[in-house]
Amino acid sequence: MSTLSASLPGGTWTLGDLTVTRFGYGAMQLAGPWVMGPPADRDGAIAVLREAVDLGITHIDTADAYGPRFTNQLIREALHPYPDSLHIVTKVGATRDQEGGWPPARRPEDLRRAVQENLENLGLEMLEVVNLRLGDAQGPQPGSLAEAFDTLVELQRQGLIRHLGVSNATAEQVAEAQAIAPIVCVQNMYNLARRQDDELIDELAGQGIAYVPFFPLGGFSPLQSSALTAVAFRLDATPMSVALAWLLQRSPNILLIPGTSSVAHLRENVAGAGFSLSEEDLAELDKIGR
Ligand SMILES: NC(=O)c1ccc[n+]([C@@H]2O[C@H](COP(=O)([O-])OP(=O)(O)OC[C@H]3O[C@@H](n4cnc5c(N)ncnc54)[C@H](OP(=O)(O)O)[C@@H]3O)[C@@H](O)[C@H]2O)c1
Repeated sequence: MSTLSASLPGGTWTLGDLTVTRFGYGAMQLAGPWVMGPPADRDGAIAVLREAVDLGITHIDTADAYGPRFTNQLIREALHPYPDSLHIVTKVGATRDQEGGWPPARRPEDLRRAVQENLENLGLEMLEVVNLRLGDAQGPQPGSLAEAFDTLVELQRQGLIRHLGVSNATAEQVAEAQAIAPIVCVQNMYNLARRQDDELIDELAGQGIAYVPFFPLGGFSPLQSSALTAVAFRLDATPMSVALAWLLQRSPNILLIPGTSSVAHLRENVAGAGFSLSEEDLAELDKIGR
């Protein structure tokens, strides 16, 4: 672990046997509009990925569905051969349609193909962490994940996957996955304003399993709240960095994967997320999502 990584806000976490910085990077925003097609500014996208690694970030979150394929190919072009310290987490279980939708693709043959495509597009022989993406664009949906998760466990036994996780999952599905095989992370939507997983986060913290909130800054509708603006003003910080600092302080098992297509925003987020929020700040921020 470089000195740079050690000094990133939040320090590090261990995913199975992989040490990652709690401050990671989510690559979804690098594709074209609505995550379809190539980025408008290709060189800019490559610069963001290289800057993330230069800042000491060792956790990048992606999926072959982003673009589709373009984001993984950009990661490969920008960063391959990957430094040993860098860990790329990907997900399978959803594909893209002509309209830019995210239909589920969780039949065994879909998952085998998706793992192969991630390996090829990222230029890897083994995927270090694969999340099974459940539910749909509306959020988690109830139902058994057994057939899909069994398929990933089989691919893990074949040496194509190191660690498993689940995404967009209900608490019941997390428990069902854990009854089949160990998981190292859960990636669900969560931020200052969306607190539905509070209980799950605490449970996973007790088990040493990472919780990785997607849309930590609100995603396609960036967080807006007068309480957030007030706290940020008081701290002379940006609302985005306060939202990230809050997540880091919320629980030690939370890993950040904020997305950005801008080097300036990436630097700003890394620089700002290390704020120590006071009891008063936390109480005010806590009201946003309750
Ligand atoms: N598992 C799943 O189903 C799932 C679903 C969605 C996302 N994800 C993952 O989660 C990651 C994070 O989600 P996300 O990127 O969609 O949402 P996000 O991190 O909540 O927000 C990204 C948005 O915030 C803006 N932003 C970032 N820093 C900013 C700053 N300092 N000032 C102003 N605006 C700023 C970005 O715009 P700029 O580009 O202009 O900076 C972008 O539009 C994704 O990259 C992806 O890896 C997973």
